[in-house]
Amino acid sequence: MMDIVLISCGKNLLMSQYFLSLSVCLIIFLRNRSIQENGDVKIEQKIDEVSFGKIFAICCTLMVLKSHSLKTFSQKYPPVKFLSEKDRKRILITGGAGFVGSHLTDKLMMDGHELTVVDNFFTGRKRNVEHWIGHENFELINHDVVEPLYIEVDQIYHLASPASPPNYMYNPIKTLKTNTIGTLNMLGLAKRVGARLLLASTSEVYGDPEVHPQNEDYWGHVNPIGPRACYDEGKRVAETMCYAYMKQEGVEVRVARIFNTFGSRMHMNDGRVVSNFILQALQGEPLTVYGTGSQTRAFQYVSDLVNGLVLLMNSNISSPVNLVMSRSQIQFLSEAQDDPQRRRPDIRKAKMMLGWEPVVPLEEGLNKTIQYFSRELEHQANNQYIPKPKAARMKKGRPRHN
Ligand SMILES: NC(=O)c1ccc[n+]([C@@H]2O[C@H](COP(=O)([O-])OP(=O)(O)OC[C@H]3O[C@@H](n4cnc5c(N)ncnc54)[C@H](O)[C@@H]3O)[C@@H](O)[C@H]2O)c1
Repeated sequence: MMDIVLISCGKNLLMSQYFLSLSVCLIIFLRNRSIQENGDVKIEQKIDEVSFGKIFAICCTLMVLKSHSLKTFSQKYPPVKFLSEKDRKRILITGGAGFVGSHLTDKLMMDGHELTVVDNFFTGRKRNVEHWIGHENFELINHDVVEPLYIEVDQIYHLASPASPPNYMYNPIKTLKTNTIGTLNMLGLAKRVGARLLLASTSEVYGDPEVHPQNEDYWGHVNPIGPRACYDEGKRVAETMCYAYMKQEGVEVRVARIFNTFGSRMHMNDGRVVSNFILQALQGEPLTVYGTGSQTRAFQYVSDLVNGLVLLMNSNISSPVNLVMSRSQIQFLSEAQDDPQRRRPDIRKAKMMLGWEPVVPLEEGLNKTIQYFSRELEHQANNQYIPKPKAARMKKGRPRHN
């Protein structure tokens, strides 16, 4: 029986066939010998010999399967550039298993850097980074940034924080702790190891703005005790901490004020307009529009944001920078408390100083996002998820950000 299992295991493996045949021959030889000598040989000895043969066969098979699986395992990773030791950086991404963090992980891994992803999986998922697990340049740590972290890194992208209203309002105290104590811990780490830290801040620091468009000099209009305050004020304090560490301790900081971003791996039930409309449309439900006032938001596709974050990290701009697409705006209605009425960012600074501007047209980005949502719904309908290790493969030598 064991022999049959072993043979069927190795059936499709070219290399293993050789070892398997060898093992099976050995087993047969030992059996025959035992049978021939049956008169003289004790039963235990016969069993010992056969067991030895089987163990040998199993070991050979395991070795072959292991080498084969290692081979296929290494083949499954998206192609990664080789960087010399001088150019290769040790990079920490907090919140790296989340929506934006996982796309940033893809870019920096494919660029050839060594990545440590830290996440407490509150809103992030291992699935988002599963295609890198086992890669020699990649490490995933289950850790809450509210606790100190002691590692050696050159750069820190600090993204850990729930980002959508239902998530950050779910546990406002935890949201505050993550953005304050968590940021303090990461700045402390940056100071200790001399790393540069980029904070993923938000357009919410402008609150419900009274100035249009909002450029980086605008101080904002935030309700400090409203339902969104845990996030808005949490991020404002996080920015304050960054500049205190810069001035007092000489830590190099970068602050990106991110506006609404969409794309694959975004949360399907985050209650935001893009995910709501896509989900409702795919499920054949009516599209819901709340309230009476028309509001504006600016959107960008996730690959554009990720490129902007990397450019900012490696620039010499230490003051805050708005990252968003300013051309395409979507109008929608809402009546949530403290929901900003108008959001119209000014991204001239990012254009001028980083040479950055979003390139993915809204329609193209939405199409990719719709495809992602369809796949997710399909998995849900089948009640099954089959990992697709080649999901982030590169096409014609260029990274594909899906
Ligand atoms: N997506 C957007 O449109 C947007 C807009 C503005 C700002 N941002 C900022 O960008 C960052 C990433 O946002 P996202 O959309 O990817 O959100 P996300 O919820 O998908 O990702 C956040 C990640 O942080 C992790 N996390 C939360 N609390 C943590 C903690 N205490 N310790 C360790 N990990 C923790 C979550 O598990 C998750 O993986 C956030 O800081 C968010 O405030 C995002």
